[in-house]
Amino acid sequence: MTWYKVPDLQYTTNPFIKKVKINGKGICLVGYEGTIYAISSTCPHAGGELSGGWCRDGKITCPIHRYSYNLNTGRGDPGQNDYVDTHPVEIREDGIYIGMTSFFEKVKQAFK
Ligand code: FES
Repeated sequence: MTWYKVPDLQYTTNPFIKKVKINGKGICLVGYEGTIYAISSTCPHAGGELSGGWCRDGKITCPIHRYSYNLNTGRGDPGQNDYVDTHPVEIREDGIYIGMTSFFEKVKQAFK
C-alpha cells in the first residue's frame, strides 16, 4: 500500500464532501461526524459523481438515482448488490493521507 498526501486539505470536524485526484484516480473525501472517509468518486450504478451527493446515517447517497453506500465498508444498500472502493485515511501532523493499493498488489495478495 502506498500513502498519498491529499493536497490543499486540512483536518476539520466540519462536514464536507470534496473530490480530489490521487494517483490518477478520482477520490471522494467525506468529512462526516468528525471522521474523514475516502471512497471512489464514481458511482458503480451508472457512473454518477458521488461528490455531488449527500450523507445521512453513515452513508453517502448518489445524486443521480439515489443509491446509497456505507462510508465505512463501501457496501451498497440491500438489493443494490454493488459497492464502492474504500481507502484508509490517516491524519498526520503535516496533513491528510490516503492509502491506496495498486491492482498488482491486490492480485499478489490474492495468491498468497
Ligand atoms: S448513477 Fe449513482 S445511483 Fe445511479
